[in-house]
Amino acid sequence: MTERLAADTAGLDRAAELLANGDLVAFPTETVYGLGADARQGAAVARIYEAKGRPSFNPLIVHVADLAMAERYGCLSPEAWGLADAFWPGPLTLVVPIAEGSGLSELVTAGLSTIGLRVPRGETAQALLRRFDGPVAAPSANLSGKISPTRAEHVLDGLEGRIGAVLDGGAAEVGVESTIIGCYDTPRLLRPGGLPTEIIEAALGRPLAHAPEANTPNAPGQLPSHYAPDAPVRLNVTEPGEAECLIGFGPDAPHDCLNLSVSGDLVEAAANLFEYLRKADASGRRIAVSPVPDHGLGRAINDRLARAAAPR
Ligand code: TXA
Ligand code: MG
Repeated sequence: MTERLAADTAGLDRAAELLANGDLVAFPTETVYGLGADARQGAAVARIYEAKGRPSFNPLIVHVADLAMAERYGCLSPEAWGLADAFWPGPLTLVVPIAEGSGLSELVTAGLSTIGLRVPRGETAQALLRRFDGPVAAPSANLSGKISPTRAEHVLDGLEGRIGAVLDGGAAEVGVESTIIGCYDTPRLLRPGGLPTEIIEAALGRPLAHAPEANTPNAPGQLPSHYAPDAPVRLNVTEPGEAECLIGFGPDAPHDCLNLSVSGDLVEAAANLFEYLRKADASGRRIAVSPVPDHGLGRAINDRLARAAAPR
């Protein structure tokens, strides 16, 4: 049985207690719901892979309450520190060299010498991390390869009975996962996400490097097929077929479609993306998606859509 916890004092206390006991707790962040485990307990981290059915060579993001705590687990260069200071708490993950004597389970890093660190901004995530007062390893709380959850019900759809509890903090604000920046040599984009790359580049004062192809096996979110609904997905559709369920975008999309944002707002579209993919999938029809502009959060949206549509 998976416990469903409210985001109040009793629920947060119980969630922190379960984590300390080595159990799995799904919790809301501002991006998507994460499936959390104590990052120092190898058995707890192993349960994440088991619950998700995820290949075990994938490293996990470690969530902490603040920058001071992040520095216990990772070595932040001046540039990494600058980004952390500017954008944490927020939808940014920094991959940095792991700190000596970090005490983190080897399973978290999948044997790499770097660690992905993130300080999430959601009120419930912050409250949980402060109560637990330790590092929480958390991938998105969905079965491996499936659509990321933006509500507690989505978590239960895939993981009911497989995890200790879900902490219900309502809908995730951002709706797509964090932007991942590698800060082990020159800052490089490993995954577009909830913090637009233009904003990061403006803070750095120079363009980001891009991930070498050789990096991709380390990033499940970077596999060609990921975030996949059961139904086939067709992209950049301007004329949907009669039998297709259309996910539209903007004021010109048909009235009866699932419109990511009628006003054409990319922030609203990101927040609706995974929920509408689920709804379209539940319609039992094939899925068609209107073009989405490829700037700002549109880059993260198009990245996820391309993976949802990739051959499996
Ligand atoms: O918004 C998010 O980032 C959500 C919430 C729960 O925080 N988490 C999330 O985790 O999306 P996950 O496991 O679905 O994706 C984590 C990504 C993977 O692509 C993984 O390979 C990459 O982070 N990653 C983690 N540590 C890494 C490292 N040391 N080097 C390269 N990539 C790393
Ligand atoms: Mg994921």
